[in-house]
Amino acid sequence: MAKSSQVTWGGRFSAGPADLMLQFSESVTFDQRLALFDIAGSKAHSAMLAHVGLITAKERGAIHAGLDAIQAEIVAGKFTWETKLEDVHMNIEQALTQRVPAAAKLHTARSRNDQVATDMRLFFKHACAELAKKIAAAQRALLTLAGANRDVLIPGYTHLQRAQPVFLAHHLFAWLEMLERDRARLAEVAAHANWCPLGAGAIAGTTLPIDREFTAKALGFVDARGRPQVTQNSMDTVADRDLFIEFAGACALFGVHVSRIAEDLILWSSAEFKYVELPDAFCTGSSLMPQKKNPDSCELLRGKSARLQGNLHTLLTLTKGLPLTYNRDLQEDKPPVFDSFDQSALCAEVLAGTVGGITLHRDRCAAAVRDPALLATDLADYLVRKGVAFREAHHAVGAVVRLAEKNNVRLNQLAPDDVQAVHPAFGPDWLDVFDLQRALAKREGTGMPGPKQIARQFARWRKVLK
Ligand code: ARG
Repeated sequence: MAKSSQVTWGGRFSAGPADLMLQFSESVTFDQRLALFDIAGSKAHSAMLAHVGLITAKERGAIHAGLDAIQAEIVAGKFTWETKLEDVHMNIEQALTQRVPAAAKLHTARSRNDQVATDMRLFFKHACAELAKKIAAAQRALLTLAGANRDVLIPGYTHLQRAQPVFLAHHLFAWLEMLERDRARLAEVAAHANWCPLGAGAIAGTTLPIDREFTAKALGFVDARGRPQVTQNSMDTVADRDLFIEFAGACALFGVHVSRIAEDLILWSSAEFKYVELPDAFCTGSSLMPQKKNPDSCELLRGKSARLQGNLHTLLTLTKGLPLTYNRDLQEDKPPVFDSFDQSALCAEVLAGTVGGITLHRDRCAAAVRDPALLATDLADYLVRKGVAFREAHHAVGAVVRLAEKNNVRLNQLAPDDVQAVHPAFGPDWLDVFDLQRALAKREGTGMPGPKQIARQFARWRKVLK
């Protein structure tokens, strides 16, 4: 059935799109969340048009007032979004046109292509800052947990086998490092977003005498010294989706980090480890087994990372092989990005909430870390200090471990004579190695888990996260 042609681009059409096509091609259901960025962009653009004399100051004033009114309606949830107007840009422009005659001039020297690129860059700057804040809150929860359990030692693991003793704080600080890199990555993405696309037009700019720097400044696309930053190639500007991929990439990697943290917590909360008690508020029970307390928040944190990776993959696949410049395929770039933002934000909050409610089973940690075998490497170092070559020392300690296993005793329960029989360099002081506090105090190089290093890291993180 023929429909009346579309208002914004319908001039060359004798019929409007089919209902099915409208339903298929609309994006307003998901891109309406760009509304406030779109309005900010339109205000800056119209201010620039007035600045260069393409519209009058009065027209600019009317456009701004109209946009402010629309913004107020959107914020109050009173704005009616129309699917037949396709997207957020046309919904707002149409609403404005109905109220303000000057709105017919708003799209001068602008295309939806540079408009959507602008909206998204503003979105990315906002989203990166929001996520970084939420990740910092999760980091603070971890720092608090570390601070409340400063003296707790646990085994560190390789191959999920007990390896060497560390302060719990050292393990938690490893997580802080991962999350700190995520924040740095997001800051990078925000910096890459900080270039203004407006003026690129549909593909080749405009013949009209616009001032791109003016618009860039008005929208905050400026460097540290306040100088405007505008994109340098109009074709790249409307075709480029690197930011989408970088943002989704930063979220995916954050997801991987969260997933690894969650996995540690799942293990630590199991009866087999029982180092931690997760908060009831972030766990669920079983509908069948009354005794169960399941670490659902952690499992979902682990699961969400798959979704974040999927979003990245969607964007990579969407973009590969597309001819320059804009193609409508690119409208599909928004749902994965919005989902990555929403889910990452939720993950950061849930991580903070879960960590905030953790209590330690200190007795279980102490029992696990008491195993003298965890200090076998320190015993080898002991022999090295006595002049034994490390390979030989490693071999000798291996033999001592085997002997202890054969005699069914702990490493430090072997008779001194038996140990000395394995290697003559073992002296009467060999048992000193098994003093945990002394052992840790020997690891004071930068980045190691010695108590002085831990104190240094506490100070550093308190400063970074204040
Ligand atoms: N809704 C569109 C998108 O998100 C806006 C750009 C439309 N441009 C066009 N040439 N049809 O991609």
